[in-house]
Amino acid sequence: MNDLLLRALRSEPVERPPIWMFRQAGRYLPEYHEVRSKSDFLGLCRDSDRAAEVTLQPLRRFNFDASIVFNDILVPPAAMGMDLEFVPGKGPVFDAPLRTRADVDALRVPSIEGDMPHVLETIRVLVDQIDVPLFGFAGAPFTMASYMCEGGGSKNFLHVKSMMWNDPEAFAKLMEMNAQTVGAYLQAQAEAGASAVALFDTWAGVLEREDFERWALPYAREALEMVKGVPTVYFCRDSSPFLELLPQTGADAFGLDWRVDLSHAREVLGDAPIMGNLDPVALHGPTDMIRSRVRRIIREAGPRGHIFNLGHGLLPTTPLEGVAAAVDEVKSWRWSEQG
Ligand code: CP3
Repeated sequence: MNDLLLRALRSEPVERPPIWMFRQAGRYLPEYHEVRSKSDFLGLCRDSDRAAEVTLQPLRRFNFDASIVFNDILVPPAAMGMDLEFVPGKGPVFDAPLRTRADVDALRVPSIEGDMPHVLETIRVLVDQIDVPLFGFAGAPFTMASYMCEGGGSKNFLHVKSMMWNDPEAFAKLMEMNAQTVGAYLQAQAEAGASAVALFDTWAGVLEREDFERWALPYAREALEMVKGVPTVYFCRDSSPFLELLPQTGADAFGLDWRVDLSHAREVLGDAPIMGNLDPVALHGPTDMIRSRVRRIIREAGPRGHIFNLGHGLLPTTPLEGVAAAVDEVKSWRWSEQG
């Protein structure tokens, strides 16, 4: 078993950082399109054998040091009773987004085994086949709420912020349901065999500090407190204005986007393991630039508690050579050879 990731998550000494990439499975891989062409995206998430196959594809090609189960953060809202569709070229769409207290009252906290058995089954299929740690994951309560209220992607987050400010009781009920759903979901993934779990708060960085503290953080903490026995990672895009608040989530490690200087993050977060943070678009650049940025990031993060990753998900346009260059550069690093 390659345990580099788990050692880095405990801040133990490692010869080089482990590497994996956010969204390492998916459309930049030709072999993904082959599997994906046989069904729609949600159908693929719900077919455990094929979801497991797609999870393995990036491992075969790049020998990453960790895997992440193929699934999506919007599967739980669908299980809570919302109609979800992935529209090609547009992304996720909820036909009836949440706008009123009555909309929130109509949701239910799902049973994980009963309503979302497929991801647990995918994990069980995978653990027998891989020799690297497997991440389970979920969307954080605020990020889930933003999709549920906006109905899809958003520019200004008008609807989610409107409910948060104009009907805080309804919003608190929604956040509480999301936290309970996500906490149970992560714990079930750990019990099914995931070696670590990640909570993705992609959009909490659109909040003012005051709202982040009141609305995003406590519910992320509530969900993470429900996870026992495996390390937890909290990723918040655009978190640089309130980096020092991140430990209050109670996570063991923190994912950081590419705008955070990792030596600064070290000063703020101390010895806590950090994950990141190459700009995913940089993988479209020349390979010598990619390689020098990889080395800079590793140096900034320092020898303990760094998991090399992107600062956000791989884009479908990413050239395979860019990914290969980043992986090769990380894998060639030896702390023992540094002066
Ligand atoms: O390899 C992996 O990392 C595992 C798979 C994974 C997917 N989604 C598959 C996917 C993971 C970890 C996610 C997380 C996810 N999904 C997040 C949080 C992390 C992040 O990137 O911010 C969010 C916000 C989503 C919501 C989502 N799913 C959007 C906005 C979209 C459409 C836009 C896009 O990037 O395509 C999806 C669809 C999706 N999720 C695809 C994949 C492979 C593409 C669907 C397809 O094949 O048509």
